[in-house]
Amino acid sequence: MTELLTLDPAVGYVDEVLDPTLDLFEEIERLKREKNAVLLAHYYQEPDIQDIADYIGDSLGLSRRAAETDADLIVFAGVHFMAETAKILNPSKKVLLPDLNAGCSLADSCPADDFAAFKARHPGHIVISYINCTAATKALSDIICTSSNAEHIIRQIPEDQPIIFAPDRNLGRFLMKQTGRDMALWDGVCIVHETFSERKLIGLKVRFPDAPVLAHPECEEAVLRHADFIGSTSMIRRFASEDAHDTFIVATEEGILHQMQKDNPEKTFIPAPPESGCSCNQCPHMRLNTLEKLYLCLRHEQPEITMDETLRVQALRPIERMLEMSAAIR
Ligand code: 13P
Ligand code: SF4
Repeated sequence: MTELLTLDPAVGYVDEVLDPTLDLFEEIERLKREKNAVLLAHYYQEPDIQDIADYIGDSLGLSRRAAETDADLIVFAGVHFMAETAKILNPSKKVLLPDLNAGCSLADSCPADDFAAFKARHPGHIVISYINCTAATKALSDIICTSSNAEHIIRQIPEDQPIIFAPDRNLGRFLMKQTGRDMALWDGVCIVHETFSERKLIGLKVRFPDAPVLAHPECEEAVLRHADFIGSTSMIRRFASEDAHDTFIVATEEGILHQMQKDNPEKTFIPAPPESGCSCNQCPHMRLNTLEKLYLCLRHEQPEITMDETLRVQALRPIERMLEMSAAIR
């Protein structure tokens, strides 16, 4: 039975003191079974959450899973734009996010009103937006992409068709280099991926000269120029398993190291260091989700993602185009 609860919107998550003897893993598994719920988690979630998830993946894999699921309830252990995408794809299902405050600096950088004005200044452009944006920005876009399929999608756009790419300028620059296409870039960045220090990375390369550097394309050019492989989280994970080296330097949110280490217990993965001695290579938004909040969210079926139907339909079209245009990408 669902316990009725009025969520305080100012708090954004279920705030309740838990019995410390409760086995949260067992309770979450029980609630998932009882409610026919699926737990989808991004690689940047804390290890405990990854271990209890039904599916762990990158933004593309998570969107596909959300589109295919036959569960009644989708619990999204990720950030707001990811849960929102699941809701856009599943209007009749309940989609939960353990903490509604789990945002994204890229999505925040691109408010829909400002983006509409940017579009108006670039008439005749097709709009390709990275999935890390709000439903309102998606609704202003022609095609959505992720870091796994962006290059594949851009290569399908006719050469003479001008393109707007938003909101990540680092990914946009990387794609311009890869495809040779000029694009009008929105000036957004990921606060986690801009934190890596080129100077410290060079220091690490001196200490581990044989270790390939694996980097996410959200990193700045100064870091990407030292990378031996650049790709999405799932591409980085796959590369580390297939490559013969035994030590790797990894420039992305350090949550990914959990799966990489599980896949390859004999290999060593070294996180690329941030500029200061902080934990800035952990996404502060992703890490708002905890096992406790996850349990409470499943128990009370709150907080729930809701959306205006007109907006949902407008945001669905460019997501469906992405799924169609990248069906061949694994
Ligand atoms: P991918 O999951 O597409 O690799 O993107 C990483 C990211 O920053 C998600 O917010
Ligand atoms: Fe957004 Fe960066 Fe966090 Fe991903 S890692 S959710 S892009 S702030």
